[in-house]
Amino acid sequence: MKKVLKWVGIVLGALVGLIVLALVVIYFNSQSRLTKIYNPPNDIVSIPADAESIANGKHIFQFRGCEGCHGEQLQGLVYLDDPAIGKVISTNLTTGKGGVGGAMSDADWVRAIRYGIRSDGTALLFMPSTEFYYLSDEDLGDVIAYIKSVSPADNELSPSKLSLTGRVVMTLVEGLTFIPAELIPMDAARPTAPEVGITPEYGAYLTQSCHVCHGLTMSGGVIPGFPADWPPAPNLTFGAGSVMPTWTEDGFITALRTGVTPSGQELRSAYMPWTSYKYMSDDELKAVWAYLKSLPKVEYGNR
Ligand code: HEC
Ligand code: HEC
Repeated sequence: MKKVLKWVGIVLGALVGLIVLALVVIYFNSQSRLTKIYNPPNDIVSIPADAESIANGKHIFQFRGCEGCHGEQLQGLVYLDDPAIGKVISTNLTTGKGGVGGAMSDADWVRAIRYGIRSDGTALLFMPSTEFYYLSDEDLGDVIAYIKSVSPADNELSPSKLSLTGRVVMTLVEGLTFIPAELIPMDAARPTAPEVGITPEYGAYLTQSCHVCHGLTMSGGVIPGFPADWPPAPNLTFGAGSVMPTWTEDGFITALRTGVTPSGQELRSAYMPWTSYKYMSDDELKAVWAYLKSLPKVEYGNR
């Protein structure tokens, strides 16, 4: 009996030792990713200062979800605090106390938004530059013009933080990362933005953010890397298991403006950020609808 207990003890001890060792390896592996210095392209983007460009910049800042994460005064906020991932704390973008605005050059703004890189060369956590990488020079310039025009707001926040579980997930799950810069093709030629219009191409340009939740094919399903209590995203293609074939363009526009679908279901803005998309113009929403209609019909869940 004593002998058996001794062996159980040895095996358990060895297991605990292995787990501790694995966590140490994971910690240092993720730490080296978090402190890696990047050298993104030095894009020259002209930053306008006229009222019309600033107004357009605000429009983009709102419907692209920047305001949803950074706050109405651009003061920054604790967006998510979940031990499974960590603390998602958006930066105060103004020149107020705790804000980065005063210290940012035009080139710093471009690198942060387009490539997810801080002025010290390290990568930003959680900030979805994978979507904003596609913004045209003109749209990006307008957004920066708007940020620079906003009044200072005092708000001191700590930086975002990855939890130990977040580090484990990011190390073990292939293709999943909380460091968007890792997914951005820094050496590739700049993608060309489509012309503005009610076209599927322009709709695709407007909808990079939808893919995070609705999937690359837009067919929906469980959202990888998100908290376990999140609902799956519905199918937005016109394939099997989608309600889209029963919707009209008007019904779609109303759903994204008011959060109420043609069947009267209320979309929960904590999961489906229609409170940002509601700022899209009619023409922009029409382009998004044209894009959804143009997609290959994929069965639900084939993200
Ligand atoms: C999902 C939430 C989210 C959205 C949407 C978002 N951000 Fe961020 N952003 C963050 C977080 C979180 C950080 C801080 C990252 C960190 O602490 O490592 C950040 C950081 C930044 C920074 C970096 C400041 C610095 O320290 O260099 C800039 C600039 C910025 N965001 C601008 C934008 C703009 C412009 C948009 C829209 C085009 C946008 N953000 C949309 C979450 C978001
Ligand atoms: C952060 C995740 C997320 C993003 C980003 C997102 N969605 Fe959603 N969407 C959801 C979830 C979750 C639901 C289900 C909401 C509910 O049940 O309350 C949903 C529901 C919908 C619905 C209703 C579909 C139905 O079957 O009733 C439409 C339409 C929709 N989203 C369109 C979009 C479009 C267009 C975009 C991009 C412009 C987008 N979504 C971006 C998560 C997201």
